[in-house]
Amino acid sequence: MPATIHLDAHDQGDIERAAKILRAGGLVAFPTETVYGLGANALSAEAVARIFEAKQRPAWDPLIVHVPGVQELDPITEIPGELRSRVRALTDAFWPGPLTLLLPRAHVIQDVVTAGRSTVGVRVPSHPVAQALLRSAGVPIAAPSANRFGHVSPTTAQHVLDDLGGQIDAVLDGGPTLVGVESTVLDPAPHPMVLYRSGAVTAPMLAATAGVPVHVHAPVVQSTRPPESLPSPGVGMRHYAPDAEVILTGSTPQQLECEALRAVEAGGRVGILLPRDWPLEGADERLAIRPWGRWGDAEALASELFAALRGLESEGVSVMVCPLPEPGGGLMDAVRDRLLKAARPR
Ligand code: TXA
Ligand code: MG
Repeated sequence: MPATIHLDAHDQGDIERAAKILRAGGLVAFPTETVYGLGANALSAEAVARIFEAKQRPAWDPLIVHVPGVQELDPITEIPGELRSRVRALTDAFWPGPLTLLLPRAHVIQDVVTAGRSTVGVRVPSHPVAQALLRSAGVPIAAPSANRFGHVSPTTAQHVLDDLGGQIDAVLDGGPTLVGVESTVLDPAPHPMVLYRSGAVTAPMLAATAGVPVHVHAPVVQSTRPPESLPSPGVGMRHYAPDAEVILTGSTPQQLECEALRAVEAGGRVGILLPRDWPLEGADERLAIRPWGRWGDAEALASELFAALRGLESEGVSVMVCPLPEPGGGLMDAVRDRLLKAARPR
């Protein structure tokens, strides 16, 4: 494949060019409000197969289908009557936005998209570039995060090129994404509803809107079951992970510093993620320091997390030390979840 084309999302002509590539069965990475997605025409099994190839993603891991509005939901899903009002309440409240709903799929959505499952993950992104691209493409777009499988999700076009440059047709550059962690994944059908991946739309928000309790699926349990037998296979594994070892510490500057110095003594090149409002007493010149959001500012910590991990990685560290937020509900739980997954042993 020729080099990946770098398109400018501020140029309407480039958005149309990206849409044309998608309609022709190509792969285009594009910004959403969460992270960059790697898009392909969801109605073409061949185009979708190319996503798996480019990312080296196993065939058992299903993709999320993106549509521009709730009107485009009908052709790709078959929602039973008793579920309709619940889905309606959720989509009214949170779409467009960072919520993926697992819904019974219609026949047009093929096995390659859902990994043979009876549900399809659907989301309506709110990012204006994603909206413009989806409208211009005129077909539903399957899109996982645009990283190589298992690596840290991309929040800039450069991150996409670092992982997939030369493997995909184009990247539509719309600048850094806002939320910074992937969408919340919810199965709205059971009682309680099941949340498989935490994100900016939180369990309390979902429960209050639907009037149904939410069970938060334990995200980081080590499983001996084959991934294809898990209810949401991609969300439980080592993921969002840089190439270096990740060590998580308690949530005080002293604990971070103590753990960082221990890692330095143990050898290897050590980097830390340092919240901007934290003092570092004995700054050691052997430490690579990457500033992160202010501690307690969940929005900033989420939006800067992946770029910070990738930044340390590009400095060539072999160990990253990072404070782990306490569980507290809200977006901080999504930051915690991604860090726990990044730190899991290979
Ligand atoms: O924010 C996001 O959701 C981004 C942007 C690009 O939209 N996309 C994203 O996709 O994070 P991906 O493929 O990296 O993560 C989707 C997760 C996977 O772990 C997958 O296993 C799960 O959602 N998933 C997708 N469809 C599913 C289904 N039908 N049943 C169960 N889990 C599903
Ligand atoms: Mg992903």
